[in-house]
Amino acid sequence: MTSSPTLAPPAVHLIDVHKTYPGAAPVHAVRGVSLALAPGSFTAVMGPSGSGKSTLLSCAAGLDTPTSGRILVGEHEIGSLSSDALTRFRREHVGFVFQSYNLIGHLTVADNLRLPMVLAEREPDPAWLAELVAAVGIAGLEGRRPGELSGGQAQRVAIARALLPRPTVVLADEPTGALDSRTGAEVLQVLRSTARRFDQTVVVVTHDPRVAAAADRVIFLADGRLVDHLDAPTAEQITARMVALGR
Ligand SMILES: Nc1ncnc2c1ncn2[C@@H]1O[C@H](COP(=O)(O)OP(=O)(O)O)[C@@H](O)[C@H]1O
Ligand SMILES: [Mg+2]
Repeated sequence: MTSSPTLAPPAVHLIDVHKTYPGAAPVHAVRGVSLALAPGSFTAVMGPSGSGKSTLLSCAAGLDTPTSGRILVGEHEIGSLSSDALTRFRREHVGFVFQSYNLIGHLTVADNLRLPMVLAEREPDPAWLAELVAAVGIAGLEGRRPGELSGGQAQRVAIARALLPRPTVVLADEPTGALDSRTGAEVLQVLRSTARRFDQTVVVVTHDPRVAAAADRVIFLADGRLVDHLDAPTAEQITARMVALGR
């Protein structure tokens, strides 16, 4: 599946990716997914619990290794990287937003934001940092620790942290799953508008049709397979498709 008529190479390209978790009863979590995401695109991933959404994102992030298939992020073929090179690759090219924020409790917001860049031995550009902090709406919170933030504020910090290195792709796995629906919608709106403004490629897993309706493309997973997609859909179209796929 190609996602755009642009001639630019995809930001993320999955080619026939499979992931089987071994064991007495092996689990075929991902069964042959191919996907090309245009630079600057915003993609929502939907599907029932257990359909392979998190596994697919982990593989695309280089956090997990596919059983077979190829994954390219920018010009990097993940499978060909040594473990050290993969760590460096992730710090530079992949931003990840987790449902549980994953902020470091004893560090201030400012230090949490800088941490991935510090680990990558890079120095964030102060003007870009300030612009991003303002864009996600966390200005003034820099001196606080995560325990002094609301869930919505914590996730805004995590979004800014993911975008700060200007990664090739930001992957967000149910980033609003721990938030009430109104706060979740606000946080997704922040992610959407910030991504659009800075032309950031984003993939977000969500169960909320209203959230997915902000995406350029919604892809549907079922039983480890890509079963459908909708381009620039309305929430009503998404809901109808979810109902049809649930039958
Ligand atoms: N580390 C693991 N070991 C074994 N099975 C796993 C592991 N992680 C996920 N699975 C299984 O893989 C399937 C897909 O899981 P997951 O990718 O988490 O789905 P989703 O995010 O769509 O809920 C499920 O059957 C799940 O139980
Ligand atoms: Mg999941």
